[in-house]
Amino acid sequence: MITSSAPGKIFLFGEHAVVYGKTAIACAIDLRAHVTVEEAPSIQMKGPGGSIDLNPRKHPYIYSVVERFKDLTDVTGVNIDIHSDIPVGSGLGSSAAVTIATIKALDAYYGTNLSLEDIAHMGHQVESEVQGRASPTDTFVSTFGGMVQIPDRKKLGFYDMLIVIGNTGKFSSTRKIVSNVAALKERHPAVIGQIMDTISAISETGIEFIQEGDFHTVGELMNINQGLLDSIGVGSKELSELVYASRKAGALGSKITGAGGGGCMIALCEHKNLSRVAHAIKRAGGDSFICRTTHAGVRIE
Ligand code: PMV
Repeated sequence: MITSSAPGKIFLFGEHAVVYGKTAIACAIDLRAHVTVEEAPSIQMKGPGGSIDLNPRKHPYIYSVVERFKDLTDVTGVNIDIHSDIPVGSGLGSSAAVTIATIKALDAYYGTNLSLEDIAHMGHQVESEVQGRASPTDTFVSTFGGMVQIPDRKKLGFYDMLIVIGNTGKFSSTRKIVSNVAALKERHPAVIGQIMDTISAISETGIEFIQEGDFHTVGELMNINQGLLDSIGVGSKELSELVYASRKAGALGSKITGAGGGGCMIALCEHKNLSRVAHAIKRAGGDSFICRTTHAGVRIE
């Protein structure tokens, strides 16, 4: 029996701008997906009502992973059991974490010796196949962990940051929001182009202050980034309510993470304010989770 785990991710800065080749900073968080595999008579998924055979419609990510392993090795019967701390469909990279943890568990089980690069690459292929369009960021961060500058995928040092995640519980389609932003940029190329450049500058400045451990300034930059995300139309009333509630409760800074429109926001906090901020987000109508950044990418448990 083998168990692996892989982390979810947040964007500290730069989502949307990264679509236009600008700089963003993504970071792994200590909410993880766990995958356990053990010998079974067929390829099965464990569910609440017992195990059922792997099904491409019910388990598209796992099915696609298993199909790829069939090209690498003799795939024998295996039972796959998934437990994830990461809320689904909220921009925290839950499908990437499940995909990456499954690849790692099967790699260890079948002895295929995949490198981290191989794992991230296969994960991105799986996400692209299932979702149509997938950014490689989620699978990269989930595989390697830590803080990553994108689009160059440069691993930055590790910095321990305390984050409260607020989830609006509202589903939003990344594809639709990215295409709305593209349409806005087409209507106002000079204006939106400059906003993207400014977001990129925020990411680059943010890296310096993260490295100095000056989280007050990092928070201030997150607030500026949030204003610009609002200006390109990816905010929502619910997200703003959580953002302002977290700031009022003492967060150093807060912003949307990911595509926006719904999904989640993040609040950077000092230890003394963590639970106050988490409660304030709940009172403002969100679900909240306290977490921290992590250097730990995919691993065998
Ligand atoms: O909502 P998420 O976590 O899939 O993030 C989307 C981030 C964007 O910058 C809007 C798109 C991308 O591919 O990077």
